[in-house]
Amino acid sequence: MVDLEEDIRSLQLDSAAEDINGVVNPEDEKPDVDKMDEDPKQEVQAQSVEAEPKAKVKEILSVQDEEDEQMKKRHLNVVFIGHVDAGKSTTGGQILFLSGQVDDRTIQKYEKEAKDKSRESWYMAYIMDTNEEERVKGKTVEVGRAHFETDTTRFTILDAPGHKSYVPNMISGASQADIGVLVISARKGEFETGYERGGQTREHVQLAKTLGVTKLLVVVNKMDDPTVNWSKERYDEIESKMIPFLKQSGYNVKKDVSFLPISGLMGLNIKTRLDKSLCSWWDGPCLFESLDSIEVPMGDPKSPFRMPIIDKFKDMGTVVMGKVESGTIRDGDSLLIMPNKDHVKVVAIYIDENRVTLAGPGENLRVRLSGVEEEDILSGFVLSSAANPISTVTEFVAQLQILELLDNAIFTAGYKAVLHVHSVVEECEIVELLQQIDPKTRKPIKKKVLFVKNGAIVLCRVQVNNVICVEKFSDFPQLGRFTLRTEGKTVAVGKITAL
Ligand code: GTP
Ligand code: MG
Repeated sequence: MVDLEEDIRSLQLDSAAEDINGVVNPEDEKPDVDKMDEDPKQEVQAQSVEAEPKAKVKEILSVQDEEDEQMKKRHLNVVFIGHVDAGKSTTGGQILFLSGQVDDRTIQKYEKEAKDKSRESWYMAYIMDTNEEERVKGKTVEVGRAHFETDTTRFTILDAPGHKSYVPNMISGASQADIGVLVISARKGEFETGYERGGQTREHVQLAKTLGVTKLLVVVNKMDDPTVNWSKERYDEIESKMIPFLKQSGYNVKKDVSFLPISGLMGLNIKTRLDKSLCSWWDGPCLFESLDSIEVPMGDPKSPFRMPIIDKFKDMGTVVMGKVESGTIRDGDSLLIMPNKDHVKVVAIYIDENRVTLAGPGENLRVRLSGVEEEDILSGFVLSSAANPISTVTEFVAQLQILELLDNAIFTAGYKAVLHVHSVVEECEIVELLQQIDPKTRKPIKKKVLFVKNGAIVLCRVQVNNVICVEKFSDFPQLGRFTLRTEGKTVAVGKITAL
């Protein structure tokens, strides 16, 4: 029983119970991701996940020594999450600027461009928001990706969009992340809107927990804003409201969460600690220090190789992109692309712009393969150990926690939703409810279950139309936890208990 309880905690979420009777906000905008013009600007490091492929692979030999040195540093994927306009892209951009990756001239250029678009204060966000529509609207759409490093760690920043229309993109970013930076705006009224029901502060925290983001750094941003002015009272208010919610979402606040005040726009408390004359009450670390000191358990480099594919392209062969969830990949390895069982050979492995000979869990890679055509690969496929490939199914048993059904609908056999599991997005249907679990005692309820409502925990059989690659949560947590969404809302989170 204790195990089950711990599992549910780790999966998350008692929070739904608290919120059952709220109003459901209909979506007011359809995602228009498809219409986006892709205009990846090359000046800086940040590139959207979708737009990244044509990466430059140069200077390999000249930097080999430095690279070997680099590879000794640990690598962490950090997803920036939080409500729309909280300052995720601004903070991400500032990090790149402070770590010396964007020069003053580029910043000046962005300042001018932002001004021309009547978005003066958005120039820092332009470092992460690389395409035109993002810049015009001042909203991130695709997950921006960038790299920086501190003394101990190489970081990949994944800058998620906050707008509710783009939650699927946020899910894809968070599912690649090891840790999360939750950005909260301290500006008067903005914290409140983000934290409300329907605000993405809540949804992102719950999703992040479900998707395996085990550690959170909560940055209370816009502390410089005139309505805040580095007020300790405001900071404490936000912290004290966030803590119970984070607990309900399954985070162990003492162990897994830390808070700190920053100004993304002014670049304060990011690379260096706050000046006492500005903020006398903050004794704690700056953002870089906090990121440096976070410890994250990594996947097992000796377990069977698994890398869900998030994108692919042609470049002297077929190149696939993804994050290693378990095992180790080496040059020359013979692997399988599942579920199609295509035999492939590893021709080259790249981390960022650097070619490497091997890579382990947590690394974001581009892998050049022979033996497969680009057309034969879809995102959601998994590059897999040949001796011990990932399981393929069209049906599985899962334990679901119902969060919030549309219009307080009931959840029964026949319920259809979109399943998000690692990089897979697939229509699914609940074909049978097997057993309800009492959310309070965590014990199975004997009575036969025909339907459940918000807040329920239920074991059920789930079917998909196409074969997908997944694992049991207990074997590979990242490949066995999922979310169910309908009409742009997350309705349930779950973990796969049997295949
Ligand atoms: P989405 O990507 O749309 O979810 O937004 P975001 O969280 O990336 O926010 P973004 O960085 O685009 O910033 C939104 C607005 O907040 C911009 O006008 C920024 O200048 C402003 N902003 C961000 N950080 C700060 C800050 O530290 N202080 C102040 N005063 N304004 C900030
Ligand atoms: Mg943004």
